[in-house]
Amino acid sequence: MTDINSRKADHIALASEAKHQAAQGSGFDLLRFEPNPLPQMSLQDIKLDSDFLERPVAAPFLIGAMTGGCNNGELINKHLAEAAQACNIPMAVGSQRAALESGMPQAARRCAPSAILLGNLGATQLQHHGLDLARRAVDAIEANALVIHLNPLQELIQPNGDRDWNGVLEAIQQCAAKLSVPVIVKEVGSGIGPTSAKKLMGAGIRWIEVAGRGGTNWASIELDRNGSEREREVAGPFIDWGMDTVEILHAVHAACPTLRLIGSGGVRNGLDIARCIRLGAEMTALAQPFLAPALISTEAVIEKISVLEEQLRWAMFLTGSERLSDLHLAEINGPASIGL
Ligand SMILES: Cc1cc2nc3c(=O)[nH]c(=O)nc-3n(C[C@H](O)[C@H](O)[C@H](O)COP(=O)(O)O)c2cc1C
Repeated sequence: MTDINSRKADHIALASEAKHQAAQGSGFDLLRFEPNPLPQMSLQDIKLDSDFLERPVAAPFLIGAMTGGCNNGELINKHLAEAAQACNIPMAVGSQRAALESGMPQAARRCAPSAILLGNLGATQLQHHGLDLARRAVDAIEANALVIHLNPLQELIQPNGDRDWNGVLEAIQQCAAKLSVPVIVKEVGSGIGPTSAKKLMGAGIRWIEVAGRGGTNWASIELDRNGSEREREVAGPFIDWGMDTVEILHAVHAACPTLRLIGSGGVRNGLDIARCIRLGAEMTALAQPFLAPALISTEAVIEKISVLEEQLRWAMFLTGSERLSDLHLAEINGPASIGL
């Protein structure tokens, strides 16, 4: 197994463990919708459908990036892609770097001929191979958009991780200008704050996935893989690095109202999806919650999607929101720090 493949296999095993979920949560529990005990509608009339990347989707959430294909990564992606196709939910594949380097076939498009599929590469991989690699990632799965992930803390903790981040913004800008599909920039669990969001907008980015703190904790996973005593000491203060998803989503939406946002990082149920929509996200993404069902079967992933849809429908019913546009306006109370 190559180094990248064995790292990805470790990630899949460790991400399933509860101890690598952020201890303090994403802040969702502090956000409470005002209950509306007079919904004045029937549950069955509630509409979850929405548009994403100019295409209709069944609900405003997507399967977050996890694997581009390694050992059991191929089977995971097959289950996820078949479910995405069956439910008309978009799916993001994980980093395609290893598959592109090894020439391994990427089955996601074959399993999901008409679903929205998002490609994925790390930002530092684009510094040197740039546009050509990005085009190959898009072509390999006929992606509807390319997601570029920013993960500087994870790279610092990983042995041999990328520590030279010069030229990353320029590489992103070049992809945004030259690729035939939109570019979405995401973090992996520390969040993209308003200052970086503005820089990304200046580089031509129209969509970001915030991936704030509160869900899967990559610092914790990387340290568990092979942190030496010294690495543990250095990384210790950064174990909770970042901003909570709720805090960061609110801050980015306030600072960049025209930027299109995917809420992610610790989104765990349909009520969290509703909270993200209320905070200004047009779409949301869940990664880790799809891992366990994806290890089982396509049907298990379909069942997970159906539960999330039902929870979102309940949240809409209980706030008297017949459409997602009504949910944007639902009364909500939250921490003073975000002015709600
Ligand atoms: C097993 C696993 C593998 C991941 N691999 C990638 C990846 O290759 N590329 C990427 O952009 N994000 C990757 N992520 C990060 C997720 O897409 C997401 O941003 C992060 O886990 C926070 O969301 P969550 O709390 O819903 O898991 C991975 C997450 C998991 C759980």
